[in-house]
Amino acid sequence: MEALLLGVGLLLGAYVLVYYNLVKAPPCRGLASLRGRTAVVTGANSGIGKMTALELARRGARVVLACRSRERGEAAAFDLRQESGNNEVIFMALDLASLASVRAFATAFLSSEPRLDILIHNAGISSCGRTREPFNLLLRVNHIGPFLLTHLLLPRLKTSAPSRVVVVSSAAHRRGRLDFTRLDRPVVGWQQELRAYADSKLANVLFARELATQLEGTGVTCYAAHPGPVNSELFLRHVPGWLRPLLRPLAWLVLRAPRGGAQTPLYCALQEGIEPLSGRYFANCHVEEVPPAARDDRAAHRLWEASRKLAGLGPGEDAESDEDSQPEDPGTPSSPSSPHPEEPMASELYPSPQNSTDRSTVTRRIPVKAELESQAC
Ligand SMILES: NC(=O)c1ccc[n+]([C@@H]2O[C@H](COP(=O)([O-])OP(=O)(O)OC[C@H]3O[C@@H](n4cnc5c(N)ncnc54)[C@H](OP(=O)(O)O)[C@@H]3O)[C@@H](O)[C@H]2O)c1
Repeated sequence: MEALLLGVGLLLGAYVLVYYNLVKAPPCRGLASLRGRTAVVTGANSGIGKMTALELARRGARVVLACRSRERGEAAAFDLRQESGNNEVIFMALDLASLASVRAFATAFLSSEPRLDILIHNAGISSCGRTREPFNLLLRVNHIGPFLLTHLLLPRLKTSAPSRVVVVSSAAHRRGRLDFTRLDRPVVGWQQELRAYADSKLANVLFARELATQLEGTGVTCYAAHPGPVNSELFLRHVPGWLRPLLRPLAWLVLRAPRGGAQTPLYCALQEGIEPLSGRYFANCHVEEVPPAARDDRAAHRLWEASRKLAGLGPGEDAESDEDSQPEDPGTPSSPSSPHPEEPMASELYPSPQNSTDRSTVTRRIPVKAELESQAC
């Protein structure tokens, strides 16, 4: 009997540890109202993306759910309008596996939406499923598609500045190792898929880093966010049917609910004062240090150039060559990107230090501890 009680006590103790270290997510405490702002969340029809979009809608943003399935996207938009009481939640078609679809989404978005304040790259896959493509599908959906989409939407992000890009990465980036000689090779079998997933999440961290460098002084900042271990369909959908009923209760016990997983992406999108940390990686609503491979500026730049090629970006499509990339005078009343006169201006939404008229001072990045140490070496 004593042994049984001891066993139960140990199990409970272990669960409390797991709960406080893994399951419980620190909440995003940013208070920003988003009335008059526009957000795009990719893969927002399920899991973390849906909960992220719900919170943005609750705060009054116009939220575009960028999803590959019209049926699932429209259904999610309906749910979110009901739950948030905000009618400004709409679906737009985006399949990140197809560069043509990414371009079509960008064209449709730019022709219908005058603002873009928050872009959240949430959509992701962990496996190719039954799809067989002649390219690395995991890299395409998790990194190349978002890379192209960011490029195409940058003019709108810049004219809506201060604005933010959040790339939902993963702690799996720590296992990533980019082999530039075979970046786009098709992935076959679950072992290659695990490796390709980690590599694509490393690409997310390096992309945020290089994007921050390229955007210094524009008022657009970007962040890589790890949502934590989340009870979603990401991995479960590829598990054999017979195993799912066994894994679901376990996942419910030891993984975060999607709402918890949404907290760090939301923190990166909303928290005031984190602009000097542009380009950094966040987990549990805190900036975190990353391993050397994820703060290698040369690799980040090399990935940027390789991604340009894989995304089919032409020389005239450089982020820097956008003619309308200059931040607009936020006071111009007739400007299509100005918020409604009754809405808070961007400067009220993200107060000090972002209010400064010299954006270069607020978006200049500061190194985290490990970088200072490595720079000192
Ligand atoms: N769950 C975790 O433990 C965890 C941990 C670390 C990081 N993450 C990251 O969190 C993000 C969200 O994952 P989740 O856990 O919420 O998984 P999820 O529920 O499977 O959501 C993934 C979303 O991405 C969409 N998507 C997949 N392929 C797409 C494509 N080609 N084009 C457009 N959208 C596509 C899915 O749409 P469909 O419904 O149409 O498939 C779905 O809406 C991912 O980037 C993932 O890597 C998750």
